[in-house]
Amino acid sequence: MNKEIFNNKIKSMQNYIMFEIKARQIELTPILKEKNRAPIALSMGAPVERVPEFAINKAIEYLNIDSMHTYSTPKGEKRFLEAVKNRMKKRFNVELDEKTEICSLIGSKEGIANLVRAIVNPTDDEQNQDVIFIPQPGYASYTQMIKASGARAYGIKLTKENNYTPNLEDVFNQYIKEGNDPKKVKAIVINYPNNPLGCTCDLEYLQHCVDFCNKYNLILISDTAYAEMYYDENYKPHSALECKGAMDCCIELYSFSKSYAMTGWRLGWACGNSTAITMLSRTKSTVDTGIFKVLQYTGADLLESKEGQEYIDEQNKKFKNKLQKFTDGLKSLGYKVEMPKTTFYLWLEIPKRFKDCVEFANELLEKSGIVIVPGTAFDENAKRYVRLSVVAADKDLEEVINRMKEDGFYFEEK
Ligand SMILES: Cc1ncc(COP(=O)(O)O)c(C=O)c1O
Repeated sequence: MNKEIFNNKIKSMQNYIMFEIKARQIELTPILKEKNRAPIALSMGAPVERVPEFAINKAIEYLNIDSMHTYSTPKGEKRFLEAVKNRMKKRFNVELDEKTEICSLIGSKEGIANLVRAIVNPTDDEQNQDVIFIPQPGYASYTQMIKASGARAYGIKLTKENNYTPNLEDVFNQYIKEGNDPKKVKAIVINYPNNPLGCTCDLEYLQHCVDFCNKYNLILISDTAYAEMYYDENYKPHSALECKGAMDCCIELYSFSKSYAMTGWRLGWACGNSTAITMLSRTKSTVDTGIFKVLQYTGADLLESKEGQEYIDEQNKKFKNKLQKFTDGLKSLGYKVEMPKTTFYLWLEIPKRFKDCVEFANELLEKSGIVIVPGTAFDENAKRYVRLSVVAADKDLEEVINRMKEDGFYFEEK
């Protein structure tokens, strides 16, 4: 078949980088094993921990109920929506109507992609494309999802100098100064806690984002996939829906993937402004026919159970410990790295002797079997950074530090 028949945007796109890296890892595995460097993956944000025992047992129970095996609805089962409502009330003191303000998701990635499709008017004409602001650096999929939908992403630069919480009026003024059309901006994506930086923000900043979006009539898309991954009560993440006026502009996305180590289950939810939820559900209703009921019922039980909360607390203790040991290990090799406040990611500056992050990541994989992600996957300008997902087993994380020592990956050359 001639490829030309397909959509221009999709044709020009790469496969999602994490799957490309995984393919390369698989390809090199036999050679790496031979030299005692079997791959250790610090690439995808996928915890290796066993999922909650409670979830496995509940899922088995539900699998035995005949009515669980038929179609659900894209919006989700009443049982699931009510559990989300209760969760949002208990965790953030946010009141939601489960009929109009909550929708189930096949993971937050699906939710963001369909939301973007619901928002933009697609065109190939770059001058006339709708624009969505996204964090930079930010989750690698945002730019591609927006591009695939016939729109354009504009980066909100998150830097140490702006405390990773830039003033959005400044960002908007800069966007206009660069000759861009303010009327084309439709939505802003924020992601606190942030992948790949591991930083978060306070409620005051979320209020600033809400106020900004209400002032300019924009949709605030708050991606909170890491809402439960924090290591210090002072940095416990907030929901943007706690802010005054949030229900007028904001839709927030949650996931079971990270804090319950349930990446493969594909379960999450969106909640917030009822028009946004309606438009998202409508888009989804033409694309998917809902999530397997067994997953929704199990997810609902998990959200409401003490076992679910205990699992999250236990995971956070484990990740705190992993991150502390691993950052200490990297420091002993001379790297400038701090323990993140949230998430399991480290954003690491690469040694000066490497040309760029791609060269560093390739060499670390080919020589030492350590799989990481070049910073340019998250920000095209981040050529001197890489992201490490500190998700591997403790012994593998120790092995990473040992290999880096043995194979000469010190920050300064010895
Ligand atoms: C910021 C962010 N949002 C969304 C996702 C998607 O997660 P899921 O689709 O598994 O819920 C990820 C996954 O890495 C992420 O880092």
